[in-house]
Amino acid sequence: MASNSAHQLAITTHRSSAMLAKVYGHPNVEALAMSLPSAATCLDVGAGASPLGVDVATLRPDIEWHNVDYSYFAPAILDEVSQNAPSNVRHIPGDATQPILPRNEYDAVFSYWLLQHLSAHDDMPARAVAANVYQSARSDASIQIGPATQGIRSIRTLMSDLPAASFSKAQAVDEQSFVDAVVTATRLEPLPRMIVDAADHVATPLFGTSRFIVKQDDKAHIVHMNTGEYVPVKSLAGALSVASLVLGITAEMAKQAVSNAFDR
Ligand SMILES: C[S@@+](CC[C@H](N)C(=O)[O-])C[C@H]1O[C@@H](n2cnc3c(N)ncnc32)[C@H](O)[C@@H]1O
Repeated sequence: MASNSAHQLAITTHRSSAMLAKVYGHPNVEALAMSLPSAATCLDVGAGASPLGVDVATLRPDIEWHNVDYSYFAPAILDEVSQNAPSNVRHIPGDATQPILPRNEYDAVFSYWLLQHLSAHDDMPARAVAANVYQSARSDASIQIGPATQGIRSIRTLMSDLPAASFSKAQAVDEQSFVDAVVTATRLEPLPRMIVDAADHVATPLFGTSRFIVKQDDKAHIVHMNTGEYVPVKSLAGALSVASLVLGITAEMAKQAVSNAFDR
């Protein structure tokens, strides 16, 4: 296995605010925004390039919204996500497995498709993030972490808009049981976990950035293997990048299968 850590490898995605509002249990972004308490302080851990925080904070000037993501250490990604951000949104570069979050601060915590990457190889990074979320949330905070992937083996279902699970700091017996509940609900089943682990170890090093798929003019673009420019996925150059990625993931999974067989 490559020496890069899970947080350096996870793809930086940009799920839409409408889609994220739904997985957090609301019909639309407006409803999510209106559900937040007055002057709430909100956190999105592993927010990536999602516009959710910007859209919600624009609708609710009374709240503070913190997007925390490791990939914001890359200036190009931080620039991209900060565009159009109102003054009540902060984009904070950080590794959420480390104690970087303030204690007892947040009234609402959101996270989507972060923990699956951090428990793909072993549970420790995901457990560290869950513990930091527990400590950073107020006792009555609403905490939504997703997708809830426990028991889901179908790749097609995993690619759909699966709901997040709700967690309560007040109802958890202690931090340990909160962490257990979060990691159990979000850990992938063995086959999808192997695919995500292999994809993470191949894709970001291959493209030289975790932001290797972006949306431009409403179309998916991927980094071109030679030029480093974004090209439409539906083009010859884009298809070559996709093919290299698929080949790389397949080779990585075969390597892991052989190494597991020899370890037995
Ligand atoms: C798959 S993306 C999800 C982005 C967004 N939540 C969405 O649903 O589109 C996962 C994000 O988690 C970030 N990430 C991974 N490990 C992290 C860590 N330890 N601390 C902070 N961010 C992390 C990655 O940089 C990436 O942007």
